[in-house]
Amino acid sequence: MNPDIPLQLLGGLTAREFLRDYWQKKPLLVRQAFTDFESPIDPDELAGLALEEEVESRLVLEHGERPWELRRGPFNEDDFATLPERDWTLLVQAVDQFVPEVAELLENFRFLPSWRIDDVMISYAAPGGSVGPHFDNYDVFLLQGHGTRNWKVGQMCNSESKLLEHADLRILAEFEQTEEWSLEPGDMLYLPPRLAHFGVAEDNCLTYSVGFRAPSAAEVLTHFTDFLSQFLPDEERYSDADAQPVSDPHQIQHDALDRLKALLAEHMGDERLLLTWFGQFMTEPRYPEQVAGDELSEEELIDSLEQGAILIRNPSARLAWSEVDDNLLLFASGQSRLLPGHLRDLLKLICAADALHIENLVEWLRDDEGRTLVCQLVQQGSLGFANE
Ligand code: SIN
Ligand code: CO
Repeated sequence: MNPDIPLQLLGGLTAREFLRDYWQKKPLLVRQAFTDFESPIDPDELAGLALEEEVESRLVLEHGERPWELRRGPFNEDDFATLPERDWTLLVQAVDQFVPEVAELLENFRFLPSWRIDDVMISYAAPGGSVGPHFDNYDVFLLQGHGTRNWKVGQMCNSESKLLEHADLRILAEFEQTEEWSLEPGDMLYLPPRLAHFGVAEDNCLTYSVGFRAPSAAEVLTHFTDFLSQFLPDEERYSDADAQPVSDPHQIQHDALDRLKALLAEHMGDERLLLTWFGQFMTEPRYPEQVAGDELSEEELIDSLEQGAILIRNPSARLAWSEVDDNLLLFASGQSRLLPGHLRDLLKLICAADALHIENLVEWLRDDEGRTLVCQLVQQGSLGFANE
């Protein structure tokens, strides 16, 4: 994707301009980011998904049994039949993993790393429906799918911002409105992390949230050090072979800190392990049970492809690749593989994985490492046959 071509999605800004001026900084309203936008899913289909065990869904009722009542799915038909006329919202997470036409929307966001994308959440609201004024710690593109939603944006927040006392929902106690817009189908609003926002349905409306993910510093530290510690033998310890006689045996001297800092720096600075951990962490699937493998041999795989079978990325799998020296690392659903540099184009093809078929794979299937890789990814469940 050329970063200097103006994009309708970004209201005529180029990806480079958008990233420079708006991304993680300030909101951007784009009228008709998608012209003649037709929602690929309707409210009934969304409600249907919320009946499924494997799909994460929530209902927020402004005037339920208590103010801002949160109900968690899966739901049943009766739950929907007994909802009031207005002031409620049904939210369904990761619809892109279940509806391919929704996943296709993500193609428009390819100017950002795919491993930064979390999911496409879709909400359906009755008139007046809202989840209350709040902030998220993530970037989000809010695309109006159907009906009209009024969006207000407010102040920048942080973990000190006052919230209503509520066991499950993080609703802001104070909202200092700065701007307000009504979004029609095809309009889109980008919000940076921590900006207060408050969306209220003006009629029956569907809103798509393309949400991003960024690990917290606390997550990076705990998960990376956990990962690192697997490689550290027990005998590797704080050591002070350079110790000098102490003047007060009860004092912790700063030379002890220097030794600790050196120990930390040695391991924390291991770029290869950091990359391996990060790739694995960022490709961990949201629903691991949806990444189920297929026990097939290399011969069976080639037979199927020769008979016209097409492989695609499992919509629940996450894929990414990187370079280490002359080699490559492929990350697939939380696992990593070190591969020789000549497989670079295969890795790119696999990560894009719109359709892998005998024509674009033929050369790679003749390569021992290439063939084994494709087969392992099918066995692991990151790739699957399109018609299954
Ligand atoms: C919604 O779609 O109702 C809420 C989305 C959000 O504010 O994050
Ligand atoms: Co939000």
